[in-house]
Amino acid sequence: MINTSPASPPRATFVPGPGYEEMLHPRSQARNNLYRIGWHGVPLELPSHVTGVDARIVVMMGYTFPSGSHKVGATYSIVMEAEKDGLISPERTRLIGPSTGNFGIGTAWTSFQKGYDGVVVMPDGMSPERTARIRAYGSDIVFTPGTESDVILTIEKAKELGQEPDTYVLAQFENFANYRFHYYVTGTSILEKVGGRIRAFVSAPGSAGTLAAGDRLKERFPESLTVAAEPVQCSTLYNGGVGQHQIEGIGDKMVPLILNVNSLDRVAMVDDQMCVDLLHYFVTVLNYRYEFGISAMCNVIAAIQTAKTERLGPDDVVVTVATDGLDRYYSYMDRLVSRTHEESKRLGPDRVHALEAGAGLLDTTSAAQKARLYDLKARTWKTWYDDAYLASMKHDAFWDKERARVAEYDAR
Ligand SMILES: Cc1ncc(COP(=O)(O)O)c(C=O)c1O
Repeated sequence: MINTSPASPPRATFVPGPGYEEMLHPRSQARNNLYRIGWHGVPLELPSHVTGVDARIVVMMGYTFPSGSHKVGATYSIVMEAEKDGLISPERTRLIGPSTGNFGIGTAWTSFQKGYDGVVVMPDGMSPERTARIRAYGSDIVFTPGTESDVILTIEKAKELGQEPDTYVLAQFENFANYRFHYYVTGTSILEKVGGRIRAFVSAPGSAGTLAAGDRLKERFPESLTVAAEPVQCSTLYNGGVGQHQIEGIGDKMVPLILNVNSLDRVAMVDDQMCVDLLHYFVTVLNYRYEFGISAMCNVIAAIQTAKTERLGPDDVVVTVATDGLDRYYSYMDRLVSRTHEESKRLGPDRVHALEAGAGLLDTTSAAQKARLYDLKARTWKTWYDDAYLASMKHDAFWDKERARVAEYDAR
């Protein structure tokens, strides 16, 4: 008999999906929606009158992913690897995604597509656009107190929920599937889609998954710098600073486990209000009505700072990402509705152009900086990982091994 009760919708048993190579180059148009996960849009090169620098600033557009942000690639990859490892299946497992938003939206989207029950653990201070989207995809939400900078509470709560039987925590800050997705799929997509000599890759971490693309770019362009951007208001990588800020998705008061400290070359500090102001200019004056969110502005400002500081010229390319689009931030723009175009320009690009080369950019290539960052990393993660494992990350061989597993998973 067909069960028509709305309380117990039919559950998919197992819905296959792509491996890493197939996310990069889908073989079929779309055997199911999961095959749309990938960088299928066109990168956007910002005009030099907007950036104020000679170097080319090219942005990979994350809003084109299903669910509206490339974070779904990380969520899906963690699920895909766990399925191949035989750890989870839709009939018995509840997926738990700790997140400040987009990874949670990705958790809800992936759970829905693959037939899992999904639970998103997120701070109660995130934008209402995010919670509405998670509920629309059918996942439950467990709230923890605070905002973006309180993400550690979501990790702790998720670990607590993960003690319950038949649960699996999609641990984006520590699961190397996140690193592998961006290393292989994002990194190779950049190499295939962005022409010219890549001199830097800029991304503001969250989980630091996206920064892994920098490791792939260094294979083709060994001189390419990997730059992590963060809010001045929460300058954890820069100087251990912690604080509240307005850039949802980044600046989480820690060094994520999956951040490859060895290959991190610079940390760029960006004022959070400058990001909101530049987004207002992009939306109202340049007429980008859906392509960019706030963290994209942080990335763009840090990319401009990198180009200025490194004195890059017209043949040089700085690549960065727009993780999501405006649909998550209407509430921020509504607050600035009375602002004129002239004010928007003065507070947006004029202020960015006036930034001095070198200001807020820290070189992290020295042994002392590496030691400081590894120490910071251990402070967060020693509760859950032993010293020997954390110490093994200081060797490049650790990261070589994690990258080699892309092919291992694809072979299964
Ligand atoms: C809007 C936004 N920007 C940037 C990031 C950071 O990306 P990653 O976690 O790959 O470092 C996130 C992560 O959730 C995000 O939601």
